Amino acid sequence: MKPFQTWLLDRTKNKDSHTLAAYKQAGGYQALETVLKKPMSPADVIQEMKVSELRGRGGAGFPTGMKWSFMPDPAKDPRPRYLAINADESEPGTCKDRVLMEKDPHGLVEGALIACYAIRAQAAYIYVRGEYRKSYDRCQAAIDEARKAGLVGKNILGTDFSCEVHMHKGAGAYICGEETGLMESLEGKRGHPRPKPPFPAMFGLWGQPTTVNNVETIFNVPFIVSRGGAWHAGIGTKASKGNFLCGISGHVNKPGVYELPFGVTAREIVEEVAGGVWKNRKCKAWFPGGSSCSLVKGEDLDVVLDHDALKTKGSSLGTAAMIILDETASIPQVMDVISRFYDHESCGQCSQCREGTQWLSQIFHRIATGQGLPGDVDALDSLAKGMAPGKTICALSDAAAIPTLSAVRLFRAELEECVRLQKDPIPYERVEYAGAH
Ligand SMILES: Cc1cc2nc3c(=O)[nH]c(=O)nc-3n(C[C@H](O)[C@H](O)[C@H](O)COP(=O)(O)O)c2cc1C
Ligand code: SF4
Repeated sequence: MKPFQTWLLDRTKNKDSHTLAAYKQAGGYQALETVLKKPMSPADVIQEMKVSELRGRGGAGFPTGMKWSFMPDPAKDPRPRYLAINADESEPGTCKDRVLMEKDPHGLVEGALIACYAIRAQAAYIYVRGEYRKSYDRCQAAIDEARKAGLVGKNILGTDFSCEVHMHKGAGAYICGEETGLMESLEGKRGHPRPKPPFPAMFGLWGQPTTVNNVETIFNVPFIVSRGGAWHAGIGTKASKGNFLCGISGHVNKPGVYELPFGVTAREIVEEVAGGVWKNRKCKAWFPGGSSCSLVKGEDLDVVLDHDALKTKGSSLGTAAMIILDETASIPQVMDVISRFYDHESCGQCSQCREGTQWLSQIFHRIATGQGLPGDVDALDSLAKGMAPGKTICALSDAAAIPTLSAVRLFRAELEECVRLQKDPIPYERVEYAGAH
């Protein structure tokens, strides 16, 4: 791999990196000072974000500057407005935001303050998944420290900019990571996604204009303000700029969260960064960015990681959480586990998703356990086609259908063999988790 510059994880290596003292020592809160004292107008900050070509890191890759510019003009729409930071991190395989929140929480707080300034929000809410106890505690401690130092609250750094940052704990539901489910949950209701439109910029938290961004997206903001949008836009590929956090898990020697520039190939990540496929085995298949993406064949590791290139392999970047399956992995069993997850997590509002996720789970389970029926593989395909894309209130239905379609497309022979033999030649190992049916 060619050498590349890093910034996202640099401070995490410092002693007591989570404290205000260490953060300031590393130049922290200078970007906020630049914004407030230079001063940059909110429109200047949004323009810089547009120039940076930063795309959201929550999975969909939406351009951040453009999203911020959807917030209504306060002169015409004086309603209160909010920033919701999505720290639900429940996409299977994804664990990158956790590293930032545990080790560098002030980076998130500073990014939140600058984002609030740009979209003219009076408060940011950080919605953290309930299991992330340490992330929650570290972010809360960072907010408390920043408040004492005059960096959060009224008249920040002696200017007329005031902004609150609040923490909110989720309760372990995948659907609360979907932006409208998150807002419902934050409002104290059941985390049921809302139909869109209206979009959050017009009708978000408590019906007010709201921007929802992922933790890693917001974390990039102070760097872009300090170094300039053009600096960020100069790194990466045509489709995707900057560095990204790649969480690699599964059958590799060194699973972990790594900072990498867009344009790196999957092979470089597996072989040079993650120490290769374990036990000197071959890669059979991999998910590029969480289990909601299409599977990619193991021989296709030379593809570049960005928002466009993976489309050539029928997949997508998602959350850049690569899950590697070695040659001994059973696709029916992998899909049994994954489809069980989506069945468990569907909120049940839409019939395609509520019934479809259940059927997918039942069919994959019987194929994986040697009880598959003739026609089951075709049934998976037709069911999944009826569930995606865009037929439901939110994309959880697509998230269950997309990996299913890829499993049938790429591994039909293996699925059909299990049905024919009435057993999976690879011994069945059921992974249990709370709530599994
Ligand atoms: C079922 C489902 C779960 C999601 N979970 C998360 C999540 O845990 N974290 C996240 O940032 N985005 C998640 N998203 C995407 C969010 O809806 C939203 O697009 C994202 O937070 C926007 O932030 P970004 O523009 O910074 O990427 C999920 C989407 C769906 C459909
Ligand atoms: S697609 Fe599924 S999870 Fe999303 S709103 Fe409909 S039923 Fe709920």
